[in-house]
Amino acid sequence: MSQLSGSIMHPITYKIVVELMQGEYCSGSRLAAKFSVSRTAIWKHIQELPSYGLDVYSLPGKGYKLSQPLQLLDYNYIFSNLDAISHQFVNTIYLLPSVDSTNRYLRSLASSGEGSGSVVLAEFQSEGKGRRGRQWVSPFGCNLYCSILWHYSDMTHGIGGLSLAIGVAVVDTLEDIGIYGVQLKWPNDLLYNGRKLGGILLEMSGDPNGDGYVIIGVGINVDMASVVDDVEISQPWVDLVGVSGRKICRNRLSVALLQQITSMLASYQRCGLLDTVRRWNSLDAMYGKVVRITGVTNEQQGVSNGIDESGALLLKQGESVCRIHSGEVSLRLAD
Ligand code: BTN
Repeated sequence: MSQLSGSIMHPITYKIVVELMQGEYCSGSRLAAKFSVSRTAIWKHIQELPSYGLDVYSLPGKGYKLSQPLQLLDYNYIFSNLDAISHQFVNTIYLLPSVDSTNRYLRSLASSGEGSGSVVLAEFQSEGKGRRGRQWVSPFGCNLYCSILWHYSDMTHGIGGLSLAIGVAVVDTLEDIGIYGVQLKWPNDLLYNGRKLGGILLEMSGDPNGDGYVIIGVGINVDMASVVDDVEISQPWVDLVGVSGRKICRNRLSVALLQQITSMLASYQRCGLLDTVRRWNSLDAMYGKVVRITGVTNEQQGVSNGIDESGALLLKQGESVCRIHSGEVSLRLAD
């Protein structure tokens, strides 16, 4: 098995994908005429598709066809279906065929003065970032990769708690589209039956007690069926199609996600985790289980007892309770 090796997608490669997205055959000469390039150039672009996780068949006399139809993200659908509250918050939506990482893209916009409420959605990430320096495998057109920029003037309630609140917002998003049973693992994994369904990566810049901004990155596995043979993911995983047994509209999912995150940010700004702790604990996949926390320098074991209002994990060790604050730690079931 190999990792996807695609880099930033050439505009003509993307246009070819748009032509093929219905899953029908399309001849090389028709594509060549449409984009005013040679058939050889089309063939070369087609050869690139597997590196983005797209399987393509070619048949003499018929042309090229994707192994399965694709539904691409649709700016107009997403923008026009946002509710009034999200419209107040969402400033600009950047919808990209490919990018190195939506978080990184937004960070570079933010450092040149991008305003609060900008959103980046991408079909493909060549260097999607996961927690603890891991790669987030991001094939084309089948998952959700989203980053949101939020400027704050006072992060009184703390960034650690914010990432937990976003976890709840993502579970609420999934319930909005009829998917139940998704759980959270502290600090910010989304699990279904113990398998990874998605993750959240917050990156902050500025003064934790004053002005600054945070980039909220969310990745959700939606439909990985066409790429399972091409990608290697280091832990057991699942996608929404596997969870629900039906096709999922990524555009509808994007709208629901932006709405839930927008409303969670407003609530978090008002009262931090106060309104969210109980809900988070009810979604906790590890509640009451013996877990091991591995940090950069040490390791601790105890019974996981949910979170407090600061977002710290409560780890029962005999009669005492130890508070673990989020950071570069990993939590696993003890053997
Ligand atoms: C994790 O390791 O669990 C966090 C994964 C976060 C992945 C998302 S995908 C959109 C955004 N852009 C990135 O590069 N990473 C986050």
